Amino acid sequence: MIFAANFKCNHSRDSFLKYAKDLNAVLKDLNRDDDIMVFPTSSSFLKEDNLLFTQGAQNFYPCENGAYTGEIGKDQLDEFNIKTVLIGHSERRTILKEDDEFLKAKFDFATKNDFKIIYCIGESLDVYENNKTKVFLENQLKNIDLKYPNLVIAYEPIWAIGSGKIPSIDEIDSILSFIAIKTKAPLLYGGSVKKDNIKEILDVKNCSGVLVGGASLKVQTFCELFI
Ligand code: PGA
Repeated sequence: MIFAANFKCNHSRDSFLKYAKDLNAVLKDLNRDDDIMVFPTSSSFLKEDNLLFTQGAQNFYPCENGAYTGEIGKDQLDEFNIKTVLIGHSERRTILKEDDEFLKAKFDFATKNDFKIIYCIGESLDVYENNKTKVFLENQLKNIDLKYPNLVIAYEPIWAIGSGKIPSIDEIDSILSFIAIKTKAPLLYGGSVKKDNIKEILDVKNCSGVLVGGASLKVQTFCELFI
């Protein structure tokens, strides 16, 4: 199973260093082959070479380097040996206004460089309430190469992110089954994942793991999901 921690705009380099040491200590004694990933802020990337989890990037600009004020490119990711990236998170789509065309440019750059991609999709409350979720997700998926071998898809209903609400397990099952017809990529669920709901989410047939925001910020609440 994949357990991916999305810190968003939380933690400093100092606090992430402590987090990484504590997480390493837990993972060292864990006899499981789960794939643990952490996406810190880019200002707190670590150079430690003994990390027992994958360090990924929440964001990058599709370039090696260049005149892109405020952005980070592949050169900056390479410095930290980062080869795993998030693309399409709803906060970047809505707050940062990343549209399909730009997401495609990021996706194509990432595939050209053999990055592992966690591609996020998910519907708004309005789409959900109007029973248009599957059509909406289908459109979001049209933007990317679903056969890319290093692809993971994270289904995150926007209304479930940080809200404490999740779809019913039957609904998650139905959406993941729908996506699984289109791609062989591992599928994650994200949105208010926590200790109380992790078991039933991971029991969903096509679920290969979770993308976690709030509950990942403390080592203890993150580790409770997989130990
Ligand atoms: P949440 O965030 O777990 O805090 O709902 C999930 C995400 O945005 O990836």
